Amino acid sequence: MTQQMNVAPAAYDLLGIGFGPSNLALAIALQELGEQRNQPLRSLFLDRQKDYRWHGNTLVAQSELQISFLKDLVTLRNPQSPYSFVNYLHTQGRLADFINLGTFYPCRMEYNDYLRWVAGHFTEQSGYGEEVLRIEPVISAGRNVERLQVVSRDTEGREHIRHTHSLALSTGGTPKIPLVFAGLKGNERVFHHAQYLQSMATMPCVDGRPMRIAVVGGGQSAAEAFIDLNDSYPSAQVDMILRAAVLKPADDSPFVNEIFAPEYTDLVFNQPEDDRDRLINEYHNTNYSVVDLDLIERIYGIFYRQKVSRQFRHGFLCRRVIETAHQEGGQIELRLNDIATGTIESHRYDAVILATGYERTSHRRLLEPLAEYLGDFVAGRDYRLASDPRLQASIFIQGFCQASHGLSDTLLSVLPARAGEIADALYELPRHRRQEIAKAVAQRA
Ligand SMILES: Cc1cc2nc3c(=O)[nH]c(=O)nc-3n(C[C@H](O)[C@H](O)[C@H](O)COP(=O)(O)OP(=O)(O)OC[C@H]3O[C@@H](n4cnc5c(N)ncnc54)[C@H](O)[C@@H]3O)c2cc1C
Ligand SMILES: NC(=O)c1ccc[n+]([C@@H]2O[C@H](COP(=O)([O-])OP(=O)(O)OC[C@H]3O[C@@H](n4cnc5c(N)ncnc54)[C@H](OP(=O)(O)O)[C@@H]3O)[C@@H](O)[C@H]2O)c1
Repeated sequence: MTQQMNVAPAAYDLLGIGFGPSNLALAIALQELGEQRNQPLRSLFLDRQKDYRWHGNTLVAQSELQISFLKDLVTLRNPQSPYSFVNYLHTQGRLADFINLGTFYPCRMEYNDYLRWVAGHFTEQSGYGEEVLRIEPVISAGRNVERLQVVSRDTEGREHIRHTHSLALSTGGTPKIPLVFAGLKGNERVFHHAQYLQSMATMPCVDGRPMRIAVVGGGQSAAEAFIDLNDSYPSAQVDMILRAAVLKPADDSPFVNEIFAPEYTDLVFNQPEDDRDRLINEYHNTNYSVVDLDLIERIYGIFYRQKVSRQFRHGFLCRRVIETAHQEGGQIELRLNDIATGTIESHRYDAVILATGYERTSHRRLLEPLAEYLGDFVAGRDYRLASDPRLQASIFIQGFCQASHGLSDTLLSVLPARAGEIADALYELPRHRRQEIAKAVAQRA
């Protein structure tokens, strides 16, 4: 915990932690609002990646965006913005060609390029290669916390300290590692799908040497890994290992899709807690443990052709719970329980890919030094964390409010609206803060 220093560093109006799509959308909304009000905020966005990529290690050739490109960083809030996906295509000279594709779903490599293009317009407000380690209170003489201290570490190991009056914490998901694999931490043959491309680049199948690979999970990541292994590494034999009985399709039918509209956030937020949980469970199959139907059909086709040729390269091990996982020689041995029959079987693999989803907990870890002010991390409708009155600095969170704001919170669906709401909230800070901002801006002019 930090006491007020004699000479405190100048405080930012807003520090953004993470510069992925959520904070990129916020940077755009703040730029627009600052211009409209002729009152720009002093903001900086930090990202631990040295060279920003959007889930870069998962950008395999066949992977497509799972949402219409019209739900880009801005269009739903301001269709006239220069930061739209359509304007990106126009500036790249590909608009007409993209139209010829006849799709709403660009490949994720292209969407990654779009996000990098937008980020390129905000280089002065961004700091890459800096990992934020913790956020601490700066306690004033009156025991209040008007500023936050953000401690980060750069790629050379140097620590940096910055002060801010408000924070937008948008650090995304953290790979979920099932407990049974805890003892294999650090083993380069067992890795989460979030590391897929980087880890696969070191595997013997890159040079055509035979490998047995397990893909654990039955969601979109597992399906994309399976297809990529099948297509890119002919010497790899892959077992899909899932707890469910089948691969289930993601429901993206039009009526159901209405739950991802920005207006739906109000509906979810205004429900009693039990009803919110019910809504989220009811539509769980729009997003989690599900796969795009066309991918399911491709995978089914691959297994069907194995039956025709009687060459059984890959395995589909459904209804299997992994009971133990340990290293055996140079391989990983998995003990599987078939929950339908109770049969126990052991299989050895040269690599295990954990496509086991993501947790949303990094905000709690980073904000731990502020725990006494924050209670149970409850966000208001404007995404600001409720706090003890002593905490006067504002903390907004993006991507950690699924339970209160709905299933769209971890996705791209509501980014423009959410960014607009947070930007408005930042400009509605208590009067003394606005005066302070105006004074600082006048001094900088
Ligand atoms: C493989 C994959 C594909 C997806 N595809 C889609 C899709 O097609 N459509 C859709 O709607 N959603 C999709 N999602 C959901 C995804 O959550 C959103 O698309 C989007 O990435 C959310 O943006 P974000 O900025 O909140 O989080 P992220 O994109 O995860 O960005 C967080 C950023 O914070 C940085 N960061 C993390 N911790 C720190 C720290 N301590 N210090 C500094 N920086 C830090 C990270 O480097 C990262 O750049 C996908 C998710 C995955 C994993
Ligand atoms: N192209 C794209 O746009 C793209 C690509 C990849 C991911 N995504 C998105 O990223 C998000 C996450 O998708 P995801 O596939 O990574 O995760 P997910 O949908 O959460 O699926 C995780 C899978 O791992 C399984 N699992 C979890 N813990 C396990 C354990 N202990 N033992 C065995 N299996 C376990 C789950 O099984 P149960 O079902 O039994 O719990 C589930 O099948 C989604 O929003 C998805 O749409 C998008």
